[in-house]
Amino acid sequence: MSATSSPAAVSIAIKDIVQEYPAPSGGVTRVVDGISLNFERPGINMLLGPSGCGKSTILHMLGGVRPMGTKTPTSGSILIDGVECHGAHDDSVMVFQRYANRPDLTVFENVAFPFRLKLWREKIAEKEWRQRVAEMLKAVGLADKQQLRPAQLSGGQNQRVALARALVLRPRILLMDEPFGALDAQTREEMQRLLIDLYKAAPCLVVFVTHDVTEALMLGDRVIVLSTQPARIADDFTIDAPRPRSTEWQRSAEAIRFEERILSQLHKSSAGKGAVRVTI
Ligand SMILES: Nc1ncnc2c1ncn2[C@@H]1O[C@H](COP(=O)(O)OP(=O)(O)O)[C@@H](O)[C@H]1O
Ligand SMILES: [Mg+2]
Repeated sequence: MSATSSPAAVSIAIKDIVQEYPAPSGGVTRVVDGISLNFERPGINMLLGPSGCGKSTILHMLGGVRPMGTKTPTSGSILIDGVECHGAHDDSVMVFQRYANRPDLTVFENVAFPFRLKLWREKIAEKEWRQRVAEMLKAVGLADKQQLRPAQLSGGQNQRVALARALVLRPRILLMDEPFGALDAQTREEMQRLLIDLYKAAPCLVVFVTHDVTEALMLGDRVIVLSTQPARIADDFTIDAPRPRSTEWQRSAEAIRFEERILSQLHKSSAGKGAVRVTI
């Protein structure tokens, strides 16, 4: 079965998005300046840019997260499967850097949390969701931790809980906002590998925001490089190297060419503003 005809096939069209926020000194600050992007099939799409360039703003728009008191987007539109999207979409879930696990609930209850909502309770019978939660906990390596609470887990394990809670819904769109940004280097690599394994088992359309060049190169089928504020698309290319990508690949001429290509764009556009990380 081709990727486009699989059940996970989905399309997102971002059309000429502009976002302006009220500036502290009066007037407005343009944060996103006319971005158009199409995502047409399952894949890991990296949205890479320096801190403060507008990545979360774009991702939140895709996820239907709207800031208080500001029209979002200021102009332009987002279409999911050809239908204009004004709010949260049933087929889309978000994972944040602060994993948003409930401290009063066990690991199992945190992963099962979406099934408290009427929408999901009506769609999926209790027997089935319990089984799905158990399978997800196994897939993220937390089967033996399901009765623990978040405070009894490490940062990486907490992020596994958040990832499991997102994927238990079998979303067609997975939006990730610097999900591994607060983790130490080794845990971050483990989580990247876990994401690749989970993605291979159930491909969906992933839009993954990062300011880490290495992370973009290790995970992405496609890397979209954003310029600094206001965000515009500075580059957009695909990487065909199979995943997981080895340390040898990271040191290959191909990877180094990609890295230099990204860094030259970022240096050109940022002129000292914002920061990117290279974790090689
Ligand atoms: N709700 C808001 N109101 C006003 N300014 C905002 C709001 N959200 C983000 N910004 C500003 O927009 C810019 C981009 O923010 P953000 O999208 O969070 O960047 P990134 O995720 O790339 O670090 C920042 O300067 C930030 O201060
Ligand atoms: Mg952000």
